[in-house]
Amino acid sequence: MKKILVTGASGYVGARIYLDLQKKHEVVGTYFNSDFNDNLVKIDITDLDSVRLVFKAHNPDFIVHVAAFPVSPQNDDQKKLMKELNYKGVDNIVKVSNEIGAKVVFVSSAIALTDSSSSANDIYGQSKAYGERECKKIVAGSLIVRPHTVFGYSPNMTNDRSFNRILKNIFLKTPAIYDTSWKFEPTYIGHISAVIDKYILGDIKTNVMNVAMDILKSKYDLGFDILSNFGIEVTPVDDKRAWAVTELDLTDFYKLNLPIKNYDEMISAMVKEINQIGNNYPKEMN
Ligand SMILES: NC(=O)c1ccc[n+]([C@@H]2O[C@H](COP(=O)([O-])OP(=O)(O)OC[C@H]3O[C@@H](n4cnc5c(N)ncnc54)[C@H](OP(=O)(O)O)[C@@H]3O)[C@@H](O)[C@H]2O)c1
Repeated sequence: MKKILVTGASGYVGARIYLDLQKKHEVVGTYFNSDFNDNLVKIDITDLDSVRLVFKAHNPDFIVHVAAFPVSPQNDDQKKLMKELNYKGVDNIVKVSNEIGAKVVFVSSAIALTDSSSSANDIYGQSKAYGERECKKIVAGSLIVRPHTVFGYSPNMTNDRSFNRILKNIFLKTPAIYDTSWKFEPTYIGHISAVIDKYILGDIKTNVMNVAMDILKSKYDLGFDILSNFGIEVTPVDDKRAWAVTELDLTDFYKLNLPIKNYDEMISAMVKEINQIGNNYPKEMN
């Protein structure tokens, strides 16, 4: 059994990866502020001593690095935090992973691919591209996992993410108003864990894996296709978003032949996951 350490296991993406990998592997998850799962270990990725202490105490075979500043910063304080997490944080992870000889999976983002001359290439995209470059230097080996906008159930149902907004529409009856202007290839969250599992098992030989469905959809499309199963009306709005449309090369991903093979199956899987939440939707949100 391989030992895995997942950073950011308290966040939206990391909590689902932590949940899924535990079914097959010995997994340690880390948090920073929000210890919503008692089993998580505290780490500060911006502090080299903290990273060393935790990594050396658990000595994992694989680090799955998910912790990050995960959106475009909106003010100077957020810009500063993004630099700390997405540059210094990555440097610390790379350094200590090499010290303990661990392989690294870096959860990047499609935004890392945005052309640097494009106005859509904001500093968040540049920071994810930096993380990719640095993680390729891991001596034991590394995999860059590149999702687009992620949808699907995570034990973290409260962070403000696209799928969690859809849960709010259902469980808190917030109005469902979604943009029609920007299209992207949606990523199913369970596919991220499945790809990481295959890498751990030695079944992935490439060092980059784009993970998404080969179809362009808007947030309105996703909202409509999920919420219509719950009898919820969705209002379209044209936010006139001039964001870049990044189409990922998904050849290697489709070759993995994972369960949930197309957009319709992804929607059905998510509807099933929502039905299973039932009374477990967080009470403090009500
Ligand atoms: N969500 C998406 O649609 C999407 C799409 C593409 C790529 N991604 C990538 O997926 C990753 C996770 O995104 P997310 O949406 O899950 O974000 P998130 O919910 O905000 O999670 C961020 C995680 O980082 C941790 N963290 C923050 N500061 C830290 C520090 N100083 N030391 C250690 N950990 C720290 C947080 O811990 P606490 O909460 O405990 O403080 C949390 O677990 C990011 O790398 C992002 O680029 C996400």
